[in-house]
Amino acid sequence: MPDGKTLHDAFLDELRDAYDAEKQLTKALPKMAKAATSPELRAAFESHLEETRGQVTRLEDVFATLNEKVRGKHCDGIAGIIEEGKSVMEEDFDDATMDACLIAGGQRAEHYEMAAYGSLIAWARVMGHAEAADLLQETLDEEKAADKKLSSLATAGINQEAADGANSEEESDADEKQKPASQTRSKVINLPKAKRRR
Ligand SMILES: [Fe+2]
Repeated sequence: MPDGKTLHDAFLDELRDAYDAEKQLTKALPKMAKAATSPELRAAFESHLEETRGQVTRLEDVFATLNEKVRGKHCDGIAGIIEEGKSVMEEDFDDATMDACLIAGGQRAEHYEMAAYGSLIAWARVMGHAEAADLLQETLDEEKAADKKLSSLATAGINQEAADGANSEEESDADEKQKPASQTRSKVINLPKAKRRR
């Protein structure tokens, strides 16, 4: 049998990572809710904040089922996603575009968590930690539902509203580009007049 750390060690490591990720998200979600313009989007972030607080507690229960001390380990992955979200929130986007970007950032976080919980559940099951697996599954289901909710808000209007803003912007850009052409035309029209004056 090879020496070294086991899948159980990796499992605990990932649990600590997830615990820290959830804690980071309890700080990021209120900022995302505040930055949202759509009341439905704000409500979605706020309700997921409540769920996330429950997920922190649930992970503490998972540690308890394993007779392990509750510990977090800095999660660089979610920190990076949150950092990117922060930069987006500093941009001067119109309201609908900001909402669309908040959804995109939120979904990045959800997908990261879904991947993490998916592996945790599979590992818990294969090592016979059924109770831990069931608890983790509850959280995975919440993450999936949150992701679905964000998708439905995006496709039910927020993306379209943002796109409409982008289209009207494009049209006014096109108007700007036509100006030199109309000036050229007026020069052409003026030309014969000048000729006539001679
Ligand atoms: Fe979560």
